[in-house]
Amino acid sequence: MARILTGIQSTGIPHLGNILGAIVPGIQLSRDPQNECFFFIADFHSLTTVHDPQVLRENTYSTAAAWLAFGFDTKTGFFYRQSDIPEVTELSWFLSNFINHSRLELAHSFKDKKEQGIEANGGLFFYPVLMAADILLYDAQVIPVGKDQKQHIEYTRDICGNFNRTYGETLIMPEARIQKEVAIVPGTDGRKMSKSYGNTIDIFEDDNRLYKRIKGIKTSTVPMGSPIDPDTCTVFALFSLIANQDQTEELRKDYQAGSIGFGHAKARLFEVMKEKFAAERVKFNELMTDKRLIDSLLHDGAEKAGIVAYETLARVREKIGYNKFAYYAQ
Ligand code: ADP
Ligand code: TRP
Repeated sequence: MARILTGIQSTGIPHLGNILGAIVPGIQLSRDPQNECFFFIADFHSLTTVHDPQVLRENTYSTAAAWLAFGFDTKTGFFYRQSDIPEVTELSWFLSNFINHSRLELAHSFKDKKEQGIEANGGLFFYPVLMAADILLYDAQVIPVGKDQKQHIEYTRDICGNFNRTYGETLIMPEARIQKEVAIVPGTDGRKMSKSYGNTIDIFEDDNRLYKRIKGIKTSTVPMGSPIDPDTCTVFALFSLIANQDQTEELRKDYQAGSIGFGHAKARLFEVMKEKFAAERVKFNELMTDKRLIDSLLHDGAEKAGIVAYETLARVREKIGYNKFAYYAQ
């Protein structure tokens, strides 16, 4: 039995990178009855960038709807909003004392912003500690994430090790699970697909908008009829992540023979995307019109997850030298 946990920030509608990098691998793991899955919406993390209450709330629904549309079974798993279980903030305070300030300064999430001359808030600096609390609060063992989160998991492991060395074995050491083929899904400009780069492909948009995004993928300039190198083309990279092997090989051959241009390749990408995600797109839209259902599933999930959180926190409090439970709960 392995305990799996992953979160997605509620900063927008999950895009293809989130889906292939986190949701699909997570759902696959959840289908194995040997696994116990904790999938949550990291809406405390979103506060580092989203300060409009309505947007924050709406994003929570779309992130939840994406997990559900891809088939997460909330009866066997744990499905919750991070903010519904505030124990995580208490644990993150404890954990912040088990990592050096200088190490936090090197976290990509913080450093990249600073290097771009963007003033980072304290929450962004603290981001990896809150993430460590997300994981350690639930004794999670396996964390399926995209490659961009590898460093954060290493921070969690360091914090866990430091805590256990100080107080004896208390917290479970987690490990990242990064699927090699989809480690980094490229965005329309060839960089890592990310909400913060505005280069996403959003499969839950309507056909027109989806096609428009696909048509906007940056390509090189190759004269008509000349061969194209598939291995340096973003359209091909995305196609190969979605299409089956035969379709991918066919496109590769067409590229190499110079018998297809980028426009046609993009049309093929659009077709495979529509086909591959047809059921999930319908389900997503249905769910977005039934937010009470989403709320009730998240409510039930928080009740289940809250019990685990409470027990871990009691264990940690006692080890540190505090009362086992907060005053009000004694
Ligand atoms: P974003 O970068 O758009 O803000 P998040 O940081 O919320 O996305 O990512 C949520 C999850 O999706 C994480 O597990 C992350 O590793 C994964 N993910 C995000 N973008 C990509 C991508 N381009 N390729 C693969 N996985 C990704
Ligand atoms: N930081 C992650 C991201 O941006 C989201 C996240 C928050 C997460 N807490 C987590 C992922 C715990 C895995 C485990 O993608």
